[in-house]
Amino acid sequence: EKGGHRHWMSKEIAEQPGVLADAIAHYASEDAIKLPQDIDFSGIDRVVMIACGTAFYACQTAKYWFEKIARLPVEVDIASEFRYREPPIGPNTLAVFVSQSGETADTLAALRYCAGKARIASVVNVSESSIARESDIALPILAGTEIGVASTKAFTCQLTVLHLLALKAARDRGQIEPAIFGEMLRDLRALPGLINQALAVGPDIRETAFALSEAEDILFLGRGQMYPLALEGALKLKEISYIHAEGYASGELKHGPIALIDDSVPVIVMAPTDELFDKTVSNMQEVMARHGRIVLVTDADGAATAGNDTWRVLTMPTAPSQLAPILYAIPAQLLAYHTAIAKGTDVDQPRNLAKSVTVE
Ligand code: F6R
Repeated sequence: EKGGHRHWMSKEIAEQPGVLADAIAHYASEDAIKLPQDIDFSGIDRVVMIACGTAFYACQTAKYWFEKIARLPVEVDIASEFRYREPPIGPNTLAVFVSQSGETADTLAALRYCAGKARIASVVNVSESSIARESDIALPILAGTEIGVASTKAFTCQLTVLHLLALKAARDRGQIEPAIFGEMLRDLRALPGLINQALAVGPDIRETAFALSEAEDILFLGRGQMYPLALEGALKLKEISYIHAEGYASGELKHGPIALIDDSVPVIVMAPTDELFDKTVSNMQEVMARHGRIVLVTDADGAATAGNDTWRVLTMPTAPSQLAPILYAIPAQLLAYHTAIAKGTDVDQPRNLAKSVTVE
């Protein structure tokens, strides 16, 4: 049933090229995005996105896309904070709830708070769930059943659907030229192939992970749209390997966390060569000057420019910059997976965790 895989998590990681291709084919044609029910973003002036855990990091990533590509302001919050804040919500707000299970108690309560105040959309994996049923529009992510407690394919499918939604918003609001829009859809269709190439880096990642399994603390760094992925990489690692890990925005390092760095602390830097690459590299050099051990996750250009003197380099395929958070989720997942294997922890059923959190 696990198709030759030792764990559900490894099966679900490997399924990503296929399920992402399904989600993309479902929502995008050659030159348009089709939703089960239209959301006309020209009448929306604010988006709030609410979720927990990994789904929350998908929302944080999507904020970069909505703001940059669609010029639409986005507020992101964790459901257990949002629901008690009594945030003002107006009729021109689109409230987006992201949940794999569709049953997370805090996310559902946040949705109910917004009901009748805003237009409600949900991005869910389980279409028959409470969150899907109580939304005006439910957008399935089409990841298929996810059994491993650590979310993997649901995360990348959430990101893909949110990316499509951001492109739709950009189109509706006249913020994107049709030619660029078509190009971005083509880029998205090429993504499953890039994910396959990233999966092929598995043996290098496994070797790095075995070395990481000796560490007591690990930091993840990213800047811009790679910052939420640093948070997700740290969450994934801590939940299944029980190694203490934290994600930081690269630029925040010097405001405190750099005090933690010595030669026993591995620092994983998520840095595709985009317009922020040089800034991230200079933060990385600050870590190296304090003998931190760097694992640089980058593309071939990045490896050539900044890979010298780092402890390890994991080379990803070169990708259109807006899709890097989806692609770099693969090494984040595989690092967590192989580190947990090296430590001998229960990858599919980590201690103290449940797949669906229906308590508050
Ligand atoms: C982490 C993980 C959790 C969930 C969170 C929300 O790997 O799986 O952080 O993402 O509990 O669950 P859903 O998406 O079902 O609302």
